[in-house]
Amino acid sequence: MSDRKVIAVVGATGAQGSGLVRAILNDPNGGFVARALTRDRTGTKAKELARLGAEVVEADVDNLENLRKAFAGAYGAYCVTFFWAHFSPEKEMAEAQSMAKAAKEAGLRHVIWSTLEDTRQWVPLSDNRMPTLQGKYKVPHFDGKGQSNHFFTDAGVPTTFLLTSFYWDNFIHFGMGPKKGPDGRWAITFPMGDKKLPGIAAEDIGKCAYAIFKKGEEFIGKTVAISGENLTGTEMAAAFAEVLGKEVRYTSVSPEAYRSFGFPGAEDLGNMFQFKRDFEEYFSGTRNPNFARSLNPSLEDFNTWLKRNKNALKLEDAAASA
Ligand SMILES: NC(=O)c1ccc[n+]([C@@H]2O[C@H](COP(=O)([O-])OP(=O)(O)OC[C@H]3O[C@@H](n4cnc5c(N)ncnc54)[C@H](OP(=O)(O)O)[C@@H]3O)[C@@H](O)[C@H]2O)c1
Repeated sequence: MSDRKVIAVVGATGAQGSGLVRAILNDPNGGFVARALTRDRTGTKAKELARLGAEVVEADVDNLENLRKAFAGAYGAYCVTFFWAHFSPEKEMAEAQSMAKAAKEAGLRHVIWSTLEDTRQWVPLSDNRMPTLQGKYKVPHFDGKGQSNHFFTDAGVPTTFLLTSFYWDNFIHFGMGPKKGPDGRWAITFPMGDKKLPGIAAEDIGKCAYAIFKKGEEFIGKTVAISGENLTGTEMAAAFAEVLGKEVRYTSVSPEAYRSFGFPGAEDLGNMFQFKRDFEEYFSGTRNPNFARSLNPSLEDFNTWLKRNKNALKLEDAAASA
């Protein structure tokens, strides 16, 4: 037990972190143990991780002292921030800075920072193809993460920068699944035109991260990008139709229309999809499912994920709820 390497997992009760904790626990001879960070160890998900064998430690990423204690004695850490809990890139940047500081002080030998592109490197604020949001961002939930990369390099933390992809779980939890329109037909709606959207089963992010920790040295200082499959809206709709056994179409809307949908974060996501659409060659090109599968041989493609989750989809009749 004592010579096994402790991985402190931020967001351990969440989508990315819980997959990593389970990957570590499912490989008891892999040489690693999971330290699951949560703000509330009495929560249902935290108790479940403890039951499965994780060490559960209370920590709030907004509290540097908490992070220092949670990272102490560990070999590595998985660092992630929670944009959708507060919608603030500044808060994400402050949290990333604290995690990098605590990681350095604890002498961690390998950190994975779950980051995303600073889209302003492709779409400067002066580029009017999309609106500037919150005064200085194009895609706030991407830009703050990308802008935070330097905290880890500046502090000299041995870091792997992990570029993740759209979780297919958003079709279940983020209201993005097929909806029945006023015309009575089922459709998924994205502003992607005919471009591909890299996607992944959230659970696979943790499995890939675990492989990166196991490979260690090879990935320190590297940026790696993962996806489960890169599909157009039409291809995703066809998979829905096949698995659900009903017609599902893809409605391609303009980014302007998507931004005006009015739900919290619609502008941010409208810009995000437009970035992925306009820079498809870079964005999909970087996220190669074959590479992710080399890390995680059980990586799911969309059809496999959909078949496994079809009963969890809450199919919405938009016409009925309007
Ligand atoms: N949705 C997507 O398609 C997608 C794709 C790529 C990247 N992302 C990024 O993924 C990030 C979120 O990761 P996730 O999806 O794994 O998170 P998640 O499923 O929303 O869960 C986050 C977990 O983090 C914990 N948490 C929240 N605030 C915290 C704080 N202040 N201190 C410590 N723990 C805190 C919560 O645990 P406790 O309540 O137990 O403390 C929660 O269970 C976002 O920044 C998002 O931009 C999302």
